[in-house]
Amino acid sequence: MRVLVSGGAGYIGPHTVLALLAAGHEAVIVDDLSNSKASVLNRLESLSGQHIPMHSIDLTDRDKTDQIFAETAFDAVIHFAGFKAVGESVEKPLEYYENNLDSTLSIVRAMRRHDVTKLVFSSSATVYGPRAPLPYSEEWWPLEATNPYGWTKVMNEQVLRDVAPTIPGLKVALLRYFNPIGSHPSGQIGEDPNGIPNNLLPFIAQVAVGRREKLMIFGDDYDTPDGTCLRDYIHVEDLALGHLAALEHLDSMKEPVRAFNLGTGQGVSVFEVLRAFEKAVGRALPYEVAPRRAGDLAESYADPTRAEQELGWKATKSIDDMCADAWRWQRENPMGYPAG
Ligand code: UFG
Repeated sequence: MRVLVSGGAGYIGPHTVLALLAAGHEAVIVDDLSNSKASVLNRLESLSGQHIPMHSIDLTDRDKTDQIFAETAFDAVIHFAGFKAVGESVEKPLEYYENNLDSTLSIVRAMRRHDVTKLVFSSSATVYGPRAPLPYSEEWWPLEATNPYGWTKVMNEQVLRDVAPTIPGLKVALLRYFNPIGSHPSGQIGEDPNGIPNNLLPFIAQVAVGRREKLMIFGDDYDTPDGTCLRDYIHVEDLALGHLAALEHLDSMKEPVRAFNLGTGQGVSVFEVLRAFEKAVGRALPYEVAPRRAGDLAESYADPTRAEQELGWKATKSIDDMCADAWRWQRENPMGYPAG
């Protein structure tokens, strides 16, 4: 298949591009580089030994989006592009709703116009909201969120559930990611956040490499075994293979839209992640326990049964693998990708 990968220069996108190419598919990246660097492309091309076309456009621009579909015949779209920082979304809700909804609308409009009938959408475990019972099951309803970023995922899912049945042949997989961490085992591709990282793993990695003084652990008084929050961390390489499995499954899907959790099913605490990272680095890392972060849930982990049964996909990598790979990437690229 020839696959348009929106947001293909970001974090999960490039890992998925490599998985697609390794499986014999073609990938065309569309990324406005607002939160990524063009130099990822050289790395992808040298790792894969293939030329990968990239278009740097804003997907909220309907005409430019349509033009890309007019120039190239795609079989499928994997739509990663979007703003993703929870805190920033509270400061700039209008920008989040505009960017994250308009890009999906313009992609689906172009897909309808150009008869592209396979879509894999990046959703998030955040759509389960604060009331869903654990482990999170795709059957849970109603979906809700606690911040504008999360609502853009809930709303995009709803748009796709409404629109898909009206477009003949369209099949959509909604992939609800848990906490993706780790990086490509080559150390060449990884997570490169702008500014101060919001998420746990890039923050720990930057402490380990000397870019930050110490980790702040947001709360050790939760009702969990060691008092810190539990999350379902999943290796980005496993996640990339989940996209491939979903893409290849779309044709045999009975309904137009189906959601799949991509997680391991295991809750791991902040202290456990810190210890696994320290093991990878080979030394203790400085930390301090700080107050709870607003909006954090004590626990979040998937019921991954549906993805295993229907997609034939299961996460296989351990938290030690995730931290070893994340550390290799950070050690070899202390400041992330080269500029340009
Ligand atoms: N944490 C710290 N210190 C930090 C950063 C995080 O202690 O510097 C803690 C958090 O309090 C939380 C855990 O580490 O307990 C994980 O936090 P992350 O920010 O890495 O991940 P979240 O689970 O909060 O958020 C992730 C995604 C969001 C998504 C959310 C729910 O980043 O996009 O899962 O699915 F919305």
